[in-house]
Amino acid sequence: MKKYQHYINGEWLDTSDKEIIPVLNPANEELIGEITCGKEADINHAVEAAKKAYNSRILVDMNPMERAKLMRGIAEELRKISKEGGALLCAENGKLLSSSINEFIEAANYFDYYSGLTDKIEGQTIPVNSQVMDYTIYEPYGVSGHIVPWNFPISMVARSLACSFAAGNSTVIKPAELTPLATHSFFAQAIHNAGVPAGLINIVTGYGNEAGAALTAHPDVAQITFTGSVKTGKTILRAAAERAVPAVVELGGKSAAVVLPDADIDKVVNATKIGIFSQAGQICSAMSRMIVHKSIKQEVLDKLSKLAGSIKVGPGDEEGVELTPVISEEQLQKIENYARSGLQAGANVISGGNRIDRKGYFFEPTIYSEVKPEMTIAQEEIFGPFLSILDYEDHEEAVHIANDTEYGLAAGVFTRDVDMATKTAALLNGGQVYVNSWFTGSIATPFGGYKQSGYSREKGQQAIKSYLQLKNIGIQL
Ligand code: NAI
Ligand code: MG
Repeated sequence: MKKYQHYINGEWLDTSDKEIIPVLNPANEELIGEITCGKEADINHAVEAAKKAYNSRILVDMNPMERAKLMRGIAEELRKISKEGGALLCAENGKLLSSSINEFIEAANYFDYYSGLTDKIEGQTIPVNSQVMDYTIYEPYGVSGHIVPWNFPISMVARSLACSFAAGNSTVIKPAELTPLATHSFFAQAIHNAGVPAGLINIVTGYGNEAGAALTAHPDVAQITFTGSVKTGKTILRAAAERAVPAVVELGGKSAAVVLPDADIDKVVNATKIGIFSQAGQICSAMSRMIVHKSIKQEVLDKLSKLAGSIKVGPGDEEGVELTPVISEEQLQKIENYARSGLQAGANVISGGNRIDRKGYFFEPTIYSEVKPEMTIAQEEIFGPFLSILDYEDHEEAVHIANDTEYGLAAGVFTRDVDMATKTAALLNGGQVYVNSWFTGSIATPFGGYKQSGYSREKGQQAIKSYLQLKNIGIQL
């Protein structure tokens, strides 16, 4: 049994406490590793190391071209280890092996992408009067604290870290307690091998209410980034408000696809396959609702029922598998409860609805129709392979249903009519809108929520601004 350690100040260390966090493989419930549980004292140690590294100005004063080179070195190291790192990620998260390897590649791409911005953090000159020379510069915050969820342990660390690092901050990362292993071993090793100076990047795993809370409350953490549930997001925002520090928050979703009467139904089926069944639906921007015009409802339901019946379920490292397990027994029970609540509320089962009778946290590919907007399964984030289908008569009604949740992360519209596509896209509440597909975005496209899905934007060029503060300097001539 491998025991994993924390990465603090350029070293792998046990924590101050004897408590162990066991990590299970969701596909077979077997113990695959354990890590010493990070506590407040370990967070303090990591923040101290990060602060010291920041104050040394080693990264802040580094020539931007050199900082970029260092980041491209991290990218290269991540690509080198993508296969072995991916295998461990697949074991701890349960997702497809190909997706796990791809997370390391995507992480590398984040470092490459943001390395291109290190020498483009430009200020302005501002005309005050002829006797004053006034200009602005962007500066890092200092120590940046990142709290990461378990659904994309590697690519989400990279998403915020690459920005934070490119901007010149020191970073302390708190991975999710369910999936810390690949981050503490392969990811940390890549940073180390690339020659990142000690203390600039630190990784400590512990439980959210201990290590996570200690990180957000620490007086030397000057900026916070969080991805996860709305509930925890609000706890983190309160902690940030307590110290008046900024926080990047990317919270959950209940994203709807609106299917207009002229839609290409094969495109709807393809989008469903990737939108709600990839990664067992555990994606914040998953297509968890579909709002279908009554005139084509039967055809859509027939094709989706066939799709659900054809999906191969199994562990992520098995050939041909399309639907992998969910992360934990707790998550599985949560999905079961939603399935039951949908039935009680009067929804109709098109497919699935049950956990699968085998070892591992497998849930059937599930589609419910006759879902009404006020039902719990139409309102709450289920975070499983579970699609709720609602129907509508006129366009206004469809948009109203799509927007009628507390979330606003992503949305979609299916139509052959470009005017209707742009009109609908403009009316939908969501930070990303997909037309005739799902997940069309990339590292370069801004991502984030409307309403309770959060207000920050990650990815793309503007994301780096969340890790920089603006200073104005005036010189009396
Ligand atoms: P969570 O939001 O509670 O956990 C995410 C991260 O926050 C973990 O690293 C956790 O240790 C940390 N955390 C928890 N409590 C904290 C606190 N008080 N202070 C600081 N950090 C804290 O999500 P959880 O419990 O894993 O899953 C529950 C639900 O959240 C899921 O069913 C899903 O609906 C949603 N979720 C959404 C994600 C997204 O990508 N939007 C990702 C993960 C979960
Ligand atoms: Mg939680």
